[in-house]
Amino acid sequence: MSGDVEVKVGGAGDVHHAERASAMIAAAASEHDIAEREPELLSGKIASGRAVLALRGRELVGFGFFSEWEGGKFVSHSGLVVDPSLRGRGVGRALKMALFEASERMFPEAVTMSLTTSEPVRAMNLSLGFAVVPFEDMTVDPAFWAGCRTCRNYEEVQRAGKQCCCEGMIRPPGGS
Ligand SMILES: CC(C)(COP(=O)(O)OP(=O)(O)OC[C@H]1O[C@@H](n2cnc3c(N)ncnc32)[C@H](O)[C@@H]1OP(=O)(O)O)[C@@H](O)C(=O)NCCC(=O)NCCS
Repeated sequence: MSGDVEVKVGGAGDVHHAERASAMIAAAASEHDIAEREPELLSGKIASGRAVLALRGRELVGFGFFSEWEGGKFVSHSGLVVDPSLRGRGVGRALKMALFEASERMFPEAVTMSLTTSEPVRAMNLSLGFAVVPFEDMTVDPAFWAGCRTCRNYEEVQRAGKQCCCEGMIRPPGGS
């Protein structure tokens, strides 16, 4: 990974990064299948230790967060993004690992979920023991699936009578 980039789990002192995290996700959402997220949601994730940050000095250059569903039965990894100028240098992998460790520490009994069309994310998930599964194997919580509403493909997916444009992947607690 780029030597001048630090990856860490966020905390209360990092909530000022929420605006830029939201803007980075919004910029990626015009070209990639990733749902947009409001700064308010992201500041809550950062403050509660449910977000990972990649920082170059004081500048946010990467982000990701997790959420629990059905009382901690499931955890989802979402909003993974790296500044376009730094992609392909291992920052996404470092964020994904930090996200994975933080979510597993907080919810060791949870099934971890990921929805993606991204080849890098798919590859990272497979290397971490995730498997491709039907959506039926993922949470039924409608609030999780409501996240799709801010994806660029939402209307097309709705018209086609589908649930989501992504591939569903899960990792059982403690590995495969
Ligand atoms: C997805 C994203 C966060 C990855 O960040 P990144 O810093 O470029 O990722 P890395 O450089 O750490 O590469 C991650 C892995 O993907 C692999 N990879 C990269 N491009 C790939 C491709 N086209 N096909 C398969 N694997 C690929 C890399 O080899 C690496 O694997 P390794 O760690 O085993 O060597 C970044 O591309 C991004 O911000 N994309 C736009 C937003 C998005 O689509 N987010 C995902 C929503 S689910």
